[in-house]
Amino acid sequence: MLLLLSVVGNHKDKLAAPKNQAAWLTKPGTPLQVSAAPLPKPSPSELVVKNAAVAINPLDSHVQDIGVFIQQWPAIFGCDVAGEVYEVGADVQRFNKGDRVIGGHPQDGAYALYTVVPANKAAILPDAISFTDGVVVPFAVETAVCVLSLKEPGVAIPGVFTPALGLPAVLGQNSHRVRRLVFRRLHDDPASDGSWTAAGIHISIVGAHNFDFSRRCGAAQVFDHKDPSLVNKIIEAVGTSGHEFIGIFDAIATPNTYAHDLEILAKLGGGHLACVHPPPADVPANVKAGMIFAVNDIATPVWKDYVTPALEAGKIQCLPPPTVVGKGLEYIQEALKKSKAGVSATKLVVEL
Ligand SMILES: NC(=O)c1ccc[n+]([C@@H]2O[C@H](COP(=O)([O-])OP(=O)(O)OC[C@H]3O[C@@H](n4cnc5c(N)ncnc54)[C@H](OP(=O)(O)O)[C@@H]3O)[C@@H](O)[C@H]2O)c1
Repeated sequence: MLLLLSVVGNHKDKLAAPKNQAAWLTKPGTPLQVSAAPLPKPSPSELVVKNAAVAINPLDSHVQDIGVFIQQWPAIFGCDVAGEVYEVGADVQRFNKGDRVIGGHPQDGAYALYTVVPANKAAILPDAISFTDGVVVPFAVETAVCVLSLKEPGVAIPGVFTPALGLPAVLGQNSHRVRRLVFRRLHDDPASDGSWTAAGIHISIVGAHNFDFSRRCGAAQVFDHKDPSLVNKIIEAVGTSGHEFIGIFDAIATPNTYAHDLEILAKLGGGHLACVHPPPADVPANVKAGMIFAVNDIATPVWKDYVTPALEAGKIQCLPPPTVVGKGLEYIQEALKKSKAGVSATKLVVEL
């Protein structure tokens, strides 16, 4: 009898719904507070992921500071998760409960133990890749696909237009995080046969201490953004690269980088300028400038067909390497602080 009671007790424990917790933002500019959160339910096209690791992006500091993009308070934010599928929406075919996955753009924010992720922004994480490595990938996938694939200009956020880049860029002014994943679309129809291949921006402008790292990420030539002869060196490198110059992907997008961009574009006769922030106000007529916003359905076929095999084959590398700030939701605030202070060639990650 005692044994029977014991078995029943364990069975009940197993059936009990897990308790969710989140790092809540109660109002802009305040520290996150860890407390209970509802266990999310997936819509038919979503997954609930039991997070093992979440990543910090610079965007998250803007969200914390000014509440940008927050629809409802208190709020959970954060963009990237890696973990195990806990529940699968009724229409989702590609995933099963227990699958190891990475995913981006969670509907209710990543900084929780359980998070809802759209299935079309998720991919299976190969067993050989740890959650802390894999979680550096999702936002970069979206950003790289958007910057190189958007054929038509469109509105990213009110009043800010996306550029119509649509071709592999040959010159990138890049932070490592965004730049490490660059795709060239081989066929016009992105859904045709999943023919995406890693391309690599050929010329990169980075800090001198990150030259080797940038080459490892695929750059054929690297230049120091502090070099006073930078513009002339870039013009020469483009001339001898053997590639057609398409434009610049500015993954930093500050007044300093814009000054270089516009000088280079002027000397090369114009081209595309794709920025991760609103582009400079006045650009010459031969420069097609715009901001990309890394949330776009154009990335769906990449998530569906490319990400997992590319991770398996090493075509997508989980770079920059993560720096694990700690284990537990309470470390997210510390990680956000470190991110705001600035990092070099790493992505801050919190294990859960
Ligand atoms: N619009 C979008 O959808 C979108 C998407 C992703 C990111 N973003 C934005 O893009 C920016 C970068 O994001 P991130 O995640 O890549 O940030 P990050 O990893 O924190 O960027 C830090 C890296 O940028 C490098 N860097 C700084 N200034 C540079 C310059 N003038 N030239 C070359 N490299 C420079 C730093 O180099 P050192 O090592 O030399 O310090 C460092 O390695 C952020 O402002 C973010 O908000 C926008």
